[in-house]
Amino acid sequence: MRHFRSFSILIFVALAISTSALGQSRKIEQRVDSLLKQMTLEEKIGQLTQYAGDNQATGPVNFKGDHLALIKSGKIGSMLSIMGTKYTRQYQEAAMQSRLKIPLLFGLDVIHGYKTTFPIPLAEAASWDIGLIERSARIAAIEASASGIHWTFAPMVDIGRDPRWGRVMEGAGEDPYLASRIAFARVRGFQGTGLGNLDSVMACAKHFTAYGAAVGGRDYNSVDMSLPQLWDIYLPPFKAAVDAGAATFMNSFNDLNGVPATGNHYLQREILKDRWNFQGFIVSDWGSIGEMVPHGYAADRKDAALKAILAGNDMDMESSAYRFALAELVNEKKVPMAVVDEAVRRILRKKFELGLFDDPFRYSDPEREGRELNNPEHRDFAREIARKSIVLLKNDKQTLPLSKNVRSIAFIGPNVKAERDNHGFWSVHLPNLDYDKFIVSQWEGVRSKVSGETKMVYAQGCDVDCRTTDGFAEAVEAAKLSDVVVLSVGERANMSGEAKSRSNIHLPGKQEELIKAVVATGKPVVVLINAGRPLVFDWTADNVPAIVYTWWLGTEAGNAIADVLFGDYNPSGKLPMTFPRSEGQIPIYYNHFNTGRPARDEDANNYVSAYIDLKNSPKFPFGFGLSYTDFKYADLKLDRSQIRPDGKIGVTFELTNTGKVAGEEVVQLYLHDRVGSLVRPVKELKDFQKVKLGPGETKRLSFTIDKEKLSFFNGDLQWVAEPGEFEIMIGSSSADIRLRDKFELVK
Ligand code: GLC
Repeated sequence: MRHFRSFSILIFVALAISTSALGQSRKIEQRVDSLLKQMTLEEKIGQLTQYAGDNQATGPVNFKGDHLALIKSGKIGSMLSIMGTKYTRQYQEAAMQSRLKIPLLFGLDVIHGYKTTFPIPLAEAASWDIGLIERSARIAAIEASASGIHWTFAPMVDIGRDPRWGRVMEGAGEDPYLASRIAFARVRGFQGTGLGNLDSVMACAKHFTAYGAAVGGRDYNSVDMSLPQLWDIYLPPFKAAVDAGAATFMNSFNDLNGVPATGNHYLQREILKDRWNFQGFIVSDWGSIGEMVPHGYAADRKDAALKAILAGNDMDMESSAYRFALAELVNEKKVPMAVVDEAVRRILRKKFELGLFDDPFRYSDPEREGRELNNPEHRDFAREIARKSIVLLKNDKQTLPLSKNVRSIAFIGPNVKAERDNHGFWSVHLPNLDYDKFIVSQWEGVRSKVSGETKMVYAQGCDVDCRTTDGFAEAVEAAKLSDVVVLSVGERANMSGEAKSRSNIHLPGKQEELIKAVVATGKPVVVLINAGRPLVFDWTADNVPAIVYTWWLGTEAGNAIADVLFGDYNPSGKLPMTFPRSEGQIPIYYNHFNTGRPARDEDANNYVSAYIDLKNSPKFPFGFGLSYTDFKYADLKLDRSQIRPDGKIGVTFELTNTGKVAGEEVVQLYLHDRVGSLVRPVKELKDFQKVKLGPGETKRLSFTIDKEKLSFFNGDLQWVAEPGEFEIMIGSSSADIRLRDKFELVK
């Protein structure tokens, strides 16, 4: 009886919650309807218009005029890159002088932190720690919302298979499954317990879509791909964002199969708004409506406005196309008023959900801003996620971890004392913040970690571009005087990011010559590589005993790196992208098709799919990362060898930490569908777990395989699981499979 009573209470509460949510959304619909009825066409178009403030231009600035005057006359509905309670209040006060007092939306690129910066998103992806990644977005939202921001243009969920494309730094790498899990977590982190809560911001899944597949890895370039590949590889993270309740989407600059995404009806209406039933709104990317003219898809700005609004683009960021052309198109009956109303409705709905009509200034509270932007717990977290994002690529002769009592260290290279660079390309430029004091440099991190007796010698060796060897002699001298050398090399933060495609992704300039000169001293050498993308550094990879990939780790970079270098944290990161041996291999990714003449490295000259001048395998594979301990995988068991479409397979195996220190391992489950109506990848990541084990500890881990994990989009774009044999692989990376078995899907 007691159980029945608690069950019925549960049902009652669930019903009450859903009824109140339903009631709340009905109330908002009524308020939207009544407001829409009062709006002139010009005011409606104002809601579809967004401009950037003066703090931080993130695109070509073409606007000429007075934002505040336009806001007062109801001609602007949203501003981006206005930050801080002071400025957002000022702009919102202007909106309150408009006839209908419709509040502004404030958007900003809060990509991996607001004031406290976390590792760049690609580095966070290397942590494979979904909970931490969600927490990172949560803290970013807490800080940004306390600073007047309603809406972040994140998460960027573009699949990145081409490291020449600088924007891989913003995403979650090459794999649809990992990227989908991360997309879901980031949307949930940004939006928290729901819009309207003061510490939540609207998320924005971008860039819709296939932006990362630009030909040649050249930003903004064309994309041409089959629809099965679009659905199997590039769309899943966007669908995950919809499933997580993303409030907004941003379309992308590229044309896809000849149609620019901003004017792409198939993407925006057929897939996103109809098939996926997306209820939020779509904002264009910076000026992308107007860019349909140079694309050659629109004859002029008016034609671009026509194509964008009919294709489902709701808000116009910075192109002014809607502001100057939409009214005429409606009056000429080329755009039905209902289409404009639908776009306005989607935007007003979010303003109501955010509570902005009840209190337009609710996010502009200076006291809360001061408190949240200086919360020490945010920095503690920044250090935790930073060290978990670090990937140990090599550690021969147990060079690492170093002793904190080492007599002397030579700390050499262009990134040793970098400050702002640790924040990566996309970070918020807060006015009046003394970044040099706020960020822990690598030098500071190591200095504070080692004992007071340790002598630390610094030599830059060269700057990042490293066009000259003038500083090498000093660096070599520093190395000769020391017991161990740590070299910190790689990119500058602005060498990856938007409009930062590189045809040559080697360590810049003569950096590898600097490394060679230092290695020649015979001292133990550790190389740290800072970058926003996979780089090529073959000589270093073959000749330096210890290599740590440190991406750009944010505010606590120096402390996190020192934690790993000196063993206070055992590195656990795994690569979310394949690292090529050469640009000539690109695009190179783990989930490739087998071809009719598959090649192994030793096959190069035997009529197989290989290069005659380079191995086929990558330098470092997807999912790869070392630890200071080792892990043994054993005793794989499947609870059945056949399943029906509605069945499941239980998979278990034992993982043992065979080393002397505790450590975390990311165990990865891959499947290979041996025969399909379309050829299937040689392996696909379908699940993973990050597991912490003490020295000598063993755990039996389990996965479940169901139809979802066996399905793909066939030639008719149906999501199907086809009967036949599947291979299951469990490994420490995509190229280090430790356990294998087979099973069959039967009709
Ligand atoms: C930029 C980027 C986009 C960003 C927007 C606003 O061009 O492509 O990711 O959110 O403009 O800054």
